Amino acid sequence: MTKNKNTKTSQIHIPVMSDKVLETLNPKRGEAYLDLTAGYGGHANQVLERTLELKKAVLVDRDQMAIDQLAEKFQGSGIRIIHKDFLNAAKELLQEKRTFDIVLADLGVSSPHLNTASRGFSFRYDAPLDMRMDQRQELTADYVVNTYKQKELEAILREYGEEPKARQIASLLVENRPIYTTTKLAEIVAQAWPGYSRVHPATRTFQALRIAVNDELRLVKETLPIMVKLLAPGGRLAIITFHSLEDRIVKRYFSGVAGDRYDTDIRLLTKKPIIPSQNELVLNPRSRSAKLRAVAKIKNKKKGDA
Ligand SMILES: C[S@@+](CC[C@H](N)C(=O)[O-])C[C@H]1O[C@@H](n2cnc3c(N)ncnc32)[C@H](O)[C@@H]1O
Repeated sequence: MTKNKNTKTSQIHIPVMSDKVLETLNPKRGEAYLDLTAGYGGHANQVLERTLELKKAVLVDRDQMAIDQLAEKFQGSGIRIIHKDFLNAAKELLQEKRTFDIVLADLGVSSPHLNTASRGFSFRYDAPLDMRMDQRQELTADYVVNTYKQKELEAILREYGEEPKARQIASLLVENRPIYTTTKLAEIVAQAWPGYSRVHPATRTFQALRIAVNDELRLVKETLPIMVKLLAPGGRLAIITFHSLEDRIVKRYFSGVAGDRYDTDIRLLTKKPIIPSQNELVLNPRSRSAKLRAVAKIKNKKKGDA
């Protein structure tokens, strides 16, 4: 389906639960595919190998690096690539009255995000505090850490990082300003957790800042209803989440609108979230917190249904 390229290791992204994604979405020849987080095209490639319908496919990502790789990978195929966040891309497609048989959103960051030091997503490397998924955006982690009020930082850490020491860490951050680098930030956070073992205590702070900088939860919440609207009758929508905050939003939305209490036109394909196999966890540790949930749009709604 795509050209063979010499991809740098930092740019390799292994698609998560790809066999389960295919089983759930069950792509068929001729179907239209929308990938709202196309990344490095791993899932897209596998779905498109089954639909064999490139001209009806749309791939979305907000990261320039991902967009460049997608453009190279699918060069000359006629596939449409949209460089936008998925809320704006979904609104654009809705306005065009497009519908899709298969919609996928594999949320969060990619391995190249985490492995490219200069992006500032990881404290494994010493780098400026950036954390923007879309490099055109103005708000960076540096701005958040160095200018937000202590109370705002505390709320971000508590809400998006579920950090038990949010108040203490927010106070340490304000006391130690300016903080320009990932490693300095990690060192300061570690002061709140002396003698920690196993997981580095800065993990929750980094997650919280990343979610805040990229406005991740609002985008998921606001795009979910549009994702459903973009489904053709019989269409399938799958979402892979990587932390409980995201998963909760997807679970509530799917069970709310798909439950008996509501007159809607979708049904759950996954009663419980699908999780990676032991084998996958060993091969791709990044998959460890992944959860896959899916719904399908009912083909023939009864007369009088909402
Ligand atoms: C986990 S990776 C997806 C990998 C992809 N499924 C693959 O197989 O290569 C998530 C991707 O979604 C993008 N992304 C995250 N949130 C987004 C959003 N709100 N709008 C558009 N793209 C987003 C990130 O830039 C990243 O490239």
